[in-house]
Amino acid sequence: ASTAQVSPRPPLFDFQGVSMIHHFTDNWENVQNFQARPDDILIATYPKAGTTWVSYILELLYFGQTDPERQTSLSIYQRVPFLESDFKILPFGTELADKLTTSPRLIKTHLPVQLVPKSFWEQNCRVVYVARNAKDNVVSYFHFDRMNLGEPEPGDWNHFLRRFMDGKMGFGPWYDHVTNWWEKKQTNSKIHYMFYEDMIEDLGREMDTLCSFLGLSPSSEEKAKVMEETQFDKMKNNKTTNYSGIPVMDFKISPFMRKGKVGDWKNHFTVAQSEQFDQDYQAKMKSKTLKFRTLV
Ligand code: A3P
Repeated sequence: ASTAQVSPRPPLFDFQGVSMIHHFTDNWENVQNFQARPDDILIATYPKAGTTWVSYILELLYFGQTDPERQTSLSIYQRVPFLESDFKILPFGTELADKLTTSPRLIKTHLPVQLVPKSFWEQNCRVVYVARNAKDNVVSYFHFDRMNLGEPEPGDWNHFLRRFMDGKMGFGPWYDHVTNWWEKKQTNSKIHYMFYEDMIEDLGREMDTLCSFLGLSPSSEEKAKVMEETQFDKMKNNKTTNYSGIPVMDFKISPFMRKGKVGDWKNHFTVAQSEQFDQDYQAKMKSKTLKFRTLV
């Protein structure tokens, strides 16, 4: 009954060569003209690559000590505005970001690199990019689209997987997203490129390289605290990080904090699907240096 109040699932359409839904393009004028500040940190990811995880890590590194009140009073999507979002239930991402008085501002985006507002490059902002292997990424996206009525209709798994391979997903093809950001990083030292699988393998090590990129030197107690607070189970039970209370998300279908594992694709792909996927993957992924792990 409650779904009757929710607007229908939005269709995908071509937007400047990328598949998008209107929630991320309706406010395009403001997105395009967004004024970045030199100390802004842009958290960029393909959807479901670990955005929330790295957002919370950054949030705690910067404000965990100085502003603990923030951690209990504001949800992660209020603390780290989603730049291009235009869900009628929240202010525009650009507005939330404009209103942030913290320094630095942490700003989330899923935009492919060519669509990032130019001000971020002009201001020479730092960017933390997180990438996740394609197979786990598509599985996570599938469950997300099943539970999130603000996303396009997912259809069944086989259909969804086909669409993913065809790049007909919100924010376009995973293949282009991870590759183009990787290419950009080769000539821009302000981009830090991380992998979800590395974070699962050794979060302490990944936090150390992240902190040295950011010029932060947390004490070992601080670091331990951040690692503790950002564990999957902790975040799953934390109302400010688990996305509970978002009306379009149906946690009975699948929770936002779903599994948090590397290799869950094995529970979804048939052998035939996996073989087809791998073959197609080889043809699409031309970079010699960008390598993903599907297991750790
Ligand atoms: P699964 O669906 O595979 O569980 P995003 O934040 O980009 O939407 O990504 C969501 C994915 O990251 C989900 O993956 C979610 O469970 C996982 N995730 C979020 N926080 C995590 C954490 N602290 N540790 C491991 N995985 C996490």
